Amino acid sequence: MRKLIIRIIHPFLRVFVKYYFTKPRRYNYKKIKGVVIPKVFHPQLTISTKILLDYIDKEDLENKSLLELGCGSGIISTLAASKKAKVMASDINVQALENALLNADKNKVKIETVNSNLFQKIPQQEFDYIIINPPYYPKTPQNVEEKAWFCGGEFEYFKDLFSTLYAYFNNASEVIMILSEDCEIETIKEIALQNKIAFKQVLETKKWGEKNYLFQLERSEVPIG
Ligand SMILES: C[S@@+](CC[C@H](N)C(=O)[O-])C[C@H]1O[C@@H](n2cnc3c(N)ncnc32)[C@H](O)[C@@H]1O
Repeated sequence: MRKLIIRIIHPFLRVFVKYYFTKPRRYNYKKIKGVVIPKVFHPQLTISTKILLDYIDKEDLENKSLLELGCGSGIISTLAASKKAKVMASDINVQALENALLNADKNKVKIETVNSNLFQKIPQQEFDYIIINPPYYPKTPQNVEEKAWFCGGEFEYFKDLFSTLYAYFNNASEVIMILSEDCEIETIKEIALQNKIAFKQVLETKKWGEKNYLFQLERSEVPIG
């Protein structure tokens, strides 16, 4: 039903969304005051950022190292830093990093930003937390803005991610990824397993008529394939 509604309103929605996001727009979460600048993923377009914010908000992050891989507006990184985590926020989109720094400043917290395609420029270390709200629609992105949504026709984003993630966490780390029922979860899980990473579901929630899942990614001793 939701997909049918989206198909009907989609052309109008696209025009509206395109216009609406030509200007910086506000996005607040509890005490965190954020702004989202044009060409950066806006958390209001999906429920995924909010679910991750709610998750992070409940965690004790004091002195924990946290990587937000693909930070977008940096609202999650800003919340984590306000909870005294040592935060690294990375993105392939330089405007996202500017946005993340702007939001950290606005909320008087410090974060480190890294312009990196996945882990390419992230110094090797084992993080206590890695938070990932990935692009998951299987289509080739045509520009950097579209990389917020599309993971490549052959799931290239996930293939690259899972082949490099292993070195950045340990058995005590929390690597949290959000996925929606709208994406090909089984394909993504299979790519992870081929790289010795298993998914453990830690939350299922239905909002706006859509089911979302939080998965904890763990080392698996049994590679497949
Ligand atoms: C769905 S958005 C999530 C943004 C933010 N984490 C949030 O929850 O609001 C995905 C983000 O990943 C970034 N991204 C996509 N491909 C990437 C890659 N290969 N390396 C780093 N970041 C990437 C996009 O630019 C975008 O900011």
